[in-house]
Amino acid sequence: MPISWLNVYNTGIAKIDEQHKKLVQMINDLESAQGKENEAQIIRDIFYRLVDYTHYHFTQEEMLMGEAEYPKTSTHKQQHKILVEEIVKMLEALKTGKLVVGEKLMTMLKDWLITHILGYDKEFGIYYKTSTKVSN
Ligand SMILES: [Fe+2]
Repeated sequence: MPISWLNVYNTGIAKIDEQHKKLVQMINDLESAQGKENEAQIIRDIFYRLVDYTHYHFTQEEMLMGEAEYPKTSTHKQQHKILVEEIVKMLEALKTGKLVVGEKLMTMLKDWLITHILGYDKEFGIYYKTSTKVSN
């Protein structure tokens, strides 16, 4: 089942929401690569891009947290570090054949992203809006 974007996933920071949607798209692309010719190659390519884009996205988010002087920056950064470790582990498992693209991986990736958005990014979104309102 592909991930459908729900309004509840929005943080209210346009740039961040766009990047989150791009991550969702990449995860969904993985699922739809199943059964295609060169499936293994396509999946590996998408996954490498997913890892790259995750790094980029977290850097962007951390920059915004810094700008807004978000008090929970270090806890949030720590979570990003854990998420990077998890996605790298998934990639390794894919490469060694311990994990295949299917329902299990899709559930893992959905949890990986959505749990973080709902548990951490939304909270930052609320703070960010207030902090930019105050400084303007
Ligand atoms: Fe985050």
